Amino acid sequence: MHSRSTGAAPALPPFDYTVFGGTGDLALRKLLPALYLRDKAGQVADGSRIIGVSRSPLAPSDYRAKAEEAIREHVPADERDTALVARFLERLDYVPVDATSDNGWDELAERLNTPPPRSGGAVRIFYLATSPSLFGPVSDQLRAFGLATPESRVVLEKPIGRDLASAQEINDRVGAVFTEQQIYRIDHYLGKETVQNLLALRFGNSLFEPLWNANHIDHVQITVAETVGVEERGGYYDQSGALRDMVQNHLLQLVCLVGMECPISLAQESVRDEKLKVLRSLKAIGADEVGGCTVRGQYRAGAVAGGAVPGYLDEPGIPPGSGTETFVALKLEIDNWRWAGVPFYLRSGKRLPAKMSEIVIQFRPIRHSIFPQGAGELQANRLIVRLQPDESIRLHLMTKEPGPGGMRLRPAALNLSFAQTFGGRFPDAYERLLMDVVRGNSTLFMRRDEVEAAWQWAEPIIDGWMSRHEMPKPYIAGTWGPSQSIALIERDGRTWHDDEIPSAAF
Ligand code: BG6
Repeated sequence: MHSRSTGAAPALPPFDYTVFGGTGDLALRKLLPALYLRDKAGQVADGSRIIGVSRSPLAPSDYRAKAEEAIREHVPADERDTALVARFLERLDYVPVDATSDNGWDELAERLNTPPPRSGGAVRIFYLATSPSLFGPVSDQLRAFGLATPESRVVLEKPIGRDLASAQEINDRVGAVFTEQQIYRIDHYLGKETVQNLLALRFGNSLFEPLWNANHIDHVQITVAETVGVEERGGYYDQSGALRDMVQNHLLQLVCLVGMECPISLAQESVRDEKLKVLRSLKAIGADEVGGCTVRGQYRAGAVAGGAVPGYLDEPGIPPGSGTETFVALKLEIDNWRWAGVPFYLRSGKRLPAKMSEIVIQFRPIRHSIFPQGAGELQANRLIVRLQPDESIRLHLMTKEPGPGGMRLRPAALNLSFAQTFGGRFPDAYERLLMDVVRGNSTLFMRRDEVEAAWQWAEPIIDGWMSRHEMPKPYIAGTWGPSQSIALIERDGRTWHDDEIPSAAF
């Protein structure tokens, strides 16, 4: 077994991370724990500061207490070290600021312009973990108060808008203050180890790429399943739904990494150029196609992991009779030379039976069989990239069943389990991405044209749904979505991947 180091890592320049929405769920659940873990790994230079900003009138000491609690709750026990947590908390500060008025901005400016010792030349980063409606106003204020310097960087959380026009408006407004090179649009799926591994799998091996096209691949499946419901985010989620929340960004980014041509290098613009081409090649699903190519679902009360859970309409913050989808399945096509005619089946939903994300590449069956009837059913090869949990790459093959009983075939799997092969802890996606901003590397962030191309494809689907005035199909929490999503793929003579061939079958 090789040991993988997530510990000591090269130190980066000192930074000032100002987190708008600093008391919000994302900051407490993801950003502060990720920054603590990078600090523990030795990547946070002395003199670095993390400044929480929100409207709440908290003292810096209150904010530190909140952060300490968040670390206790969201960092695994074996990664919590009392001395290191204390050192991290000392780097935290807090300023109450109202994004939509002038309140608090002078204090923030004073804080940022009064650097602590040893922080000379700190990289100045503004992380907008707020509602997208504040991206424009915050950017305007950063300029008005002289905080947006030519070297500073701004990180935008998804969603960037709710349709093409609102995305363009946000991009224009933020773009009036920051150049495109200063803007980091986060899609945390791109920071996941196994997602980055798609590049290694495809372009670091000679085995797959010659087969990676319509001649050899029958179809692709991408599933991103969650067991959670809408949690405390009902207000946001009900305005969004599964297509906007998951498909327009995370799933489409996965489609891009599976579908793109080999970039000329890993340089940020090369990779992003290739992803953009995939987005621009997506075949439009308009009002006439939504009925046949998409399924919307909404969960009803049921049971997940043995516990009863309420239906979507009974979740806090959901208006009665809401028609928002919590599940979506769809069939898309990439209209280009490599992929013409190869369907990509996507599904994502909340309150499904398991938290599980995977990509399935289904190869075509062999052209001619030499095996006698009775040798067993020949199953076409299948490559399964498990993104989470239990990260792995499995290749389903046909093999001869051992023994003297003649030629009997049986499917078996080659299984590369990342935990068994590399050991150690997998850093959370945010750890990687937050530090990429400090490094100034935007390869794993979305460029403006990517976000807008993704909306250009997603918007007609939403419009098509609205024009049909249909409610989402109900599904019981703890099941794999409405039966129509099974019909979506079975109509084409295919099935959603769910079998597990034991790798111990050899
Ligand atoms: C977020 C969505 O972007 O991704 C959430 O807004 C979703 O609704 C989350 O739960 C899923 O991320 P992960 O990393 O847990 O798969």
